[in-house]
Amino acid sequence: MEQSTPTTMEPARSWLLLLCLAAVATAGVLQARAQPDSIGFISVDCGFPGTASYVDDTTKLSYAPDAAFTDAGSNQNISAVYITPKLGKRYLNMRSFPDSSRSCYTLRSLEAGLKYILRATFMYGNYDGLSRPPIFDLYVGVNFWSMVNITSADSPVILEAIVLVPDDFVQVCLVNTGSGTPFISGLDLRPLKSSLYPQANATQGLVLLGRINFGPTDDTDIVRYPDDPHDRFWFPWVDANSWNSLSTTLRVQNIDNDLFEAPSKVMQTAITPRNASKNIEFRWDSEPQPKDPTPGYIGIMHFSELQLLSGNAVRQFYINLNGKPWYPKAFTPEYLYSDATYNSNPYRGLARYNISINATANSTLPPIINAVEVFSVISTTNVATDSQDVSAITAIKQKYHVQKNWMGDPCVPKTLAWDGLTCSYAISSPPRITAVNLSFSGLNGDISTSFTNLKAVQYLDLSHNNLTGSIPDSLSQLSSLTVLDLTGNQLNGSIPSGLLKRIQDGSLNLRYGNNPNLCTNGNSCQTTKAKSKLAIYIAVPVVLVAVIVSVVVLLLCFCRGKKQGSMTNAVKPQNETPMSYVPTGDAYAQSSLQLENRRFTYRELEMITNNFQRVLGRGGFGLVYDGFLEDGTQVAVKLRSETSNQGVKEFLAEAQILARIHHKNLVSMIGYCKDGEYMALVYEYMPEGTLQEHISGNGLNGGFLSWRQRLRIALESAQGLEYLHKGCNPPLIHRDVKATNILLNAKLEAKIADFGLTKAFNRDNDTHVSTNTLVGTLGYVDPEYHATMQPTTKSDVYSFGVVLLELITGRPAILRDPEPTSIIQWARQRLARGNMEGVVDPRMRGDHDVNSVWKAADIALKCTAQASAQRPTMTDVVAQLQECLELEESRGGGGAMKVGFYTSSSSDPYSGNNADGQSTDVSQGSTTFEMEHNFGRVPTMPTGPAAR
Ligand SMILES: *[C@@H]1O[C@H](CO)[C@@H](O)[C@H](O)[C@H]1NC(C)=O
Ligand SMILES: *[C@@H]1O[C@H](CO)[C@@H](O)[C@H](O)[C@H]1NC(C)=O
Ligand SMILES: *[C@@H]1O[C@H](CO)[C@@H](O)[C@H](O)[C@H]1NC(C)=O
Ligand SMILES: *[C@@H]1O[C@H](CO)[C@@H](O)[C@H](O)[C@H]1NC(C)=O
Ligand SMILES: *[C@@H]1O[C@H](CO)[C@@H](O)[C@H](O)[C@H]1NC(C)=O
Repeated sequence: MEQSTPTTMEPARSWLLLLCLAAVATAGVLQARAQPDSIGFISVDCGFPGTASYVDDTTKLSYAPDAAFTDAGSNQNISAVYITPKLGKRYLNMRSFPDSSRSCYTLRSLEAGLKYILRATFMYGNYDGLSRPPIFDLYVGVNFWSMVNITSADSPVILEAIVLVPDDFVQVCLVNTGSGTPFISGLDLRPLKSSLYPQANATQGLVLLGRINFGPTDDTDIVRYPDDPHDRFWFPWVDANSWNSLSTTLRVQNIDNDLFEAPSKVMQTAITPRNASKNIEFRWDSEPQPKDPTPGYIGIMHFSELQLLSGNAVRQFYINLNGKPWYPKAFTPEYLYSDATYNSNPYRGLARYNISINATANSTLPPIINAVEVFSVISTTNVATDSQDVSAITAIKQKYHVQKNWMGDPCVPKTLAWDGLTCSYAISSPPRITAVNLSFSGLNGDISTSFTNLKAVQYLDLSHNNLTGSIPDSLSQLSSLTVLDLTGNQLNGSIPSGLLKRIQDGSLNLRYGNNPNLCTNGNSCQTTKAKSKLAIYIAVPVVLVAVIVSVVVLLLCFCRGKKQGSMTNAVKPQNETPMSYVPTGDAYAQSSLQLENRRFTYRELEMITNNFQRVLGRGGFGLVYDGFLEDGTQVAVKLRSETSNQGVKEFLAEAQILARIHHKNLVSMIGYCKDGEYMALVYEYMPEGTLQEHISGNGLNGGFLSWRQRLRIALESAQGLEYLHKGCNPPLIHRDVKATNILLNAKLEAKIADFGLTKAFNRDNDTHVSTNTLVGTLGYVDPEYHATMQPTTKSDVYSFGVVLLELITGRPAILRDPEPTSIIQWARQRLARGNMEGVVDPRMRGDHDVNSVWKAADIALKCTAQASAQRPTMTDVVAQLQECLELEESRGGGGAMKVGFYTSSSSDPYSGNNADGQSTDVSQGSTTFEMEHNFGRVPTMPTGPAAR
């Protein structure tokens, strides 16, 4: 710097300002160079309406409207007064973003890890009539690119960056900083070879400060594509007062492995000082940014000798920065080859950067320069959210048209993270989405499977939307998910097995209340209160003939007198043919739905249920609603779902059976509805819900049943079954006895419910009963029935034995800890060792007669004998349970002294059984069902549908 004197090039104005002026002066007069559209270029005319691209007259590049690149903002036109003939078409309109804090364009189909030039243009043109050019921030992906400070209405601002794009897409985002509405006029993307601009890498991007072509003959000539295959803009700088121009028409070649590939057209012109003794000088000032107070700068100077030097002519010069060598040696440009000097590490901390190019003492010719580029560097170390998470949440955003502020990267920067998302920010890995709260977001349609791709999500709240369809089981694959809230939607189907497993192993908290169409009882898809079913249908299709036959059989079924529980009444001889029992009443013989109960119209049901307002629960064929008859009697109305064809035959079967069986321990039907396609059954209301709820401790009052209450429930249930088996001819087999099908009224009196699977059993004609469909519920199914496909009354005995074990132990039919285990096997092993303490429900606190419990356990084990012949009949069971109850009741209030004293000698749990064989078989049967059907026990939900 020592001998330098200022050149005349710019006494007062900053380098940057000059660059801007150059851009302004030449905007819109880009020279035509006919070329086809280039591969790899994306050229967007922001705010251009429609869907059709146009070819720009001057560049012959194809410009696309921007609708496909963004989903925010609106199209605007610049004011007419700013339209000049020379203004490029893309500056006439823009897109402005008044409504969002961050608005983004997404450029897709890139190659991850490649370098790209991104160029954004902004022509204000007082489009909003406010005469107030805005200031806002520009981001490339998740990294700050530049502040956009629009200072005038009539000159476009052009910003360019060279960045390495880590993904196969890149977003350019405008961020509102409170100083006016962001807008954009154009957006370009150009691919670069990885070897170019080595200063741009994964952690650092280059933001163009100026790119100057020295000495062109036409000072309006911006060199760009196709003269520059990379479509960089090279702005002309001509100052005849200060410099002489040099030029050649010969091609200037790039050297091997050229890092910058300056185009020949730019390198064909150069300047030398007009006064040969002077230096070439130029400078730029540091421009501290709010986010980067000491920006770093990269300079690249391009040199090529354009004159064929004679004899001993020498052009040799030093390049200095602020008086210190920029380049360590004297530099001699090569004839017609482009070369460059540059700094690899950015200069920082200087207020002004004076470049001086001085001839050496030996040089016979003045210094020369062909072109210069100056960049500031930006950090690109912000890492975008995990790309799989981004894809998933983007798909979710698109599917549900989520509004909110969902633009740009979901998690980065933190200050602009999407509303409703929570992210984790690890140091060594990309941010992940860990929580999604889309409650009250107006979501419509089914649950997107894209949620399944949010692999790190722990909390997913989709509550209070209008989501329909079933719950995808794939959600259970989200191993980090601990809370899934689906409350308040219109979901249907049942809780998928995978999710049930997650609930059972305690890893997931599922909330699904207030979904009126959802089967909310995982075990049995049933109402919390009454009448429902869930059968296991083994793969063989239902044979229609069998259905018809069974309906006929049902029609022929005869049960003894109403309201009778005693088996002492005479029963018609069993060896008579069923035909002889056809009731004489005309109500039976003609149509399957000419029942003796009250017949309701659909309109009446609407009134009874107050337009089906309150859902009690769900059955296999539809919802069960709360209702009140005209006289105030509370009823439960099971309405067959219009969409469910599957339940028709069970529905008919249940109506048929309920029409003629009457017993105090069977839930009674008050009436039915067959009104057009509407079918419904009206039952007595059972306010205490299912036995299952009471066993699990989820009963209405949250308390636990005493042993005496349990015994009464067992006895009453047994009497109900006994009536089906003995009071009807041919006997009826319930086929789905389980704790959820035993309902309790206000006095905790038990009634058997759900006769949808009930079949008549005719010992003289087994073909009437044998169907190809195995029904029942996992954990309750008689292994012999399973093996033979022939249900018998002993199948119900077996299932009842399981219920009895549940009553004794307070445990579910299938224990889950650690392995799925039948309660039969579990109890049998302990009882065999005389370990009654380990079996009996500890919540009874030992307040029970020990012998009574042992006797009941003995009954239960006999009922669950492997071979049906070894099981007692329900009549035997009723008699034995009566004895149990007497033992307990005779205990009076003073049973406490017997607490904890159990004796295996009081009963032999092995009697008549092969314990091991049975246990094994049951277990295997369970496992088979498990694999094929994945029915589990009802999980305990923290929240759920209103129980009643
Ligand atoms: C912009 O100008 C075009 C052509 O003159 C016109 O069709 C369009 O409606 C204008 N758009 C707006 C937002 O004013
Ligand atoms: C924007 O540019 C104007 C004109 O150069 C300048 O006065 C103003 O300070 C700039 N605004 C910001 C926020 O840098
Ligand atoms: C840069 O050059 C100008 C004149 O050309 C001089 O006044 C200024 O001090 C120089 N700055 C530095 C940092 O060398
Ligand atoms: C200038 O020329 C002299 C004599 O030929 C030589 O010794 C010296 O190294 C040269 N200087 C440079 C900078 O090349
Ligand atoms: C989820 O979003 C809703 C609605 O915006 C809000 O009321 C609720 O507090 C949010 N839940 C959590 C856990 O932040």
